[in-house]
Amino acid sequence: MKLQSQLNAAFTVLLIVVMAVTGYFIYSLLLDLLIQDEQRQLRQSGEILVEVLDDRYGPRTDIQQFSTFLEDQDLQLFLYDRNQDAVFFSTMPPEVVNGFFQNNDFADSSEPVWNYGNAKFVNSRILVYPEATGLELILLTPMNDLHAVQQNFIFRLAIVFVIGAAAAVLLSYFLTNKLVTPLSRLQKQVKKIENRQFDDLERVQATGEIKEVEQSVYEMAKELQRYMNSQQSFFQNASHELKTPLMTIQGYAEGIKEGVFEKEEEEKGLDVMVTEVKRLKTIINEMILLAKLDSEPSVYQPEEIEVSYLIDKVVDRALPLVNEKGIKLTQNIEGNIRIFADEEKMLRALMNLTFNAIRHANDRINLSVYTEKEVVKIKIEDDGQGVSEELMPQLFHRFVKGKDGDTGLGLAIARAIIEQSNGKITVGKSSKLGGARFEIRINRKKYSEQ
Ligand SMILES: Nc1ncnc2c1ncn2[C@@H]1O[C@H](COP(=O)(O)OP(=O)(O)O)[C@@H](O)[C@H]1O
Ligand SMILES: [Mg+2]
Repeated sequence: MKLQSQLNAAFTVLLIVVMAVTGYFIYSLLLDLLIQDEQRQLRQSGEILVEVLDDRYGPRTDIQQFSTFLEDQDLQLFLYDRNQDAVFFSTMPPEVVNGFFQNNDFADSSEPVWNYGNAKFVNSRILVYPEATGLELILLTPMNDLHAVQQNFIFRLAIVFVIGAAAAVLLSYFLTNKLVTPLSRLQKQVKKIENRQFDDLERVQATGEIKEVEQSVYEMAKELQRYMNSQQSFFQNASHELKTPLMTIQGYAEGIKEGVFEKEEEEKGLDVMVTEVKRLKTIINEMILLAKLDSEPSVYQPEEIEVSYLIDKVVDRALPLVNEKGIKLTQNIEGNIRIFADEEKMLRALMNLTFNAIRHANDRINLSVYTEKEVVKIKIEDDGQGVSEELMPQLFHRFVKGKDGDTGLGLAIARAIIEQSNGKITVGKSSKLGGARFEIRINRKKYSEQ
């Protein structure tokens, strides 16, 4: 059963139950109200009658006159003597009076409805003054009229209910339709995602929570598309990067095997082969590292590290190359700054950045560490050419490299490590030294948190 039908069915059943219960209560309450009202009216007529009697005849000494007056009234009434438990007078024939007297207990004044044959009558009793006479005027009216009023009322109520129910069901249909339509449209879009038709995706108009779900589905689809594209370009780039050195190696190996090279060329070919094999090894190692960094959170062992200690280690390792290239390395390091990260991985990220700087610098590089509010900033700057404009947007992607580039994986590795430590890395155009400026921002670990 579809969601919309389920909702509508549930709502209709609920409506019918509520209306039936309400109708039943109103129906039974109505008869009581009508009887009470009828009694009130009878009482009013009765009281007027008794007043007139009092006025005309005073103390009822002459009962005969009294009865004649009552007979003239067009009413069904008894004059009941409580003291003797007998009907003293009635405007109705004696057999009817007897019938009433046998069917009902005249002495019980709490019963508002009396039976006679199949008919029911509402009664109302008024004590005739003075009370000592024990006379009661009992007025009757048949209940047929009341039933007719009751039926009429219920009939109208039923019409109101039917119209109301029809309007409510229509409204419910409209509302559920409004609710369910975006869901079924969304389901079609999800099906497209399943079939990877990302370009055919359409936005679905919706409100409230469905809108939020739609937004999430849409973002998820975009993310999935980005991921699949990046996977695809990764495989293309990776196979290209691996193929090039392999082709070189194959070319030389076949040449040497077939003896097409002179002795000198053969030596050179072997050198190239060794270099390319080393390069292949580096690429594969870096690819494995990246894959691990991305997929195995357990490779990170975060701990508290003093940043100046990390920088010292970086400088120690960079020094031979710095000296060899005759580069001046300066440092502005604030002490007592701690971060929470995997030491070995963080060292690797900083080394990648520093070795890039050394490679691209003319003759100066600068490392600086300081805090701004609770954010630690680590900057690596050089005085080289800087990063070219077109490279900037994808600089941290895998296999993205400049003309003088190597594997194109160093910055991707650095970014993966820094982001895993909840940090961010950015590249700027203008360093104070004139070349590239890489900046890492990472949360400071406070001493009080130890
Ligand atoms: N300090 C820098 N100055 C200028 N260009 C740089 C600098 N650091 C990185 N780059 C550019 O970014 C590219 C990607 O760097 P990276 O991912 O480390 O790969 P690789 O160093 O193997 O080429 C480099 O090829 C280079 O063009
Ligand atoms: Mg590099």
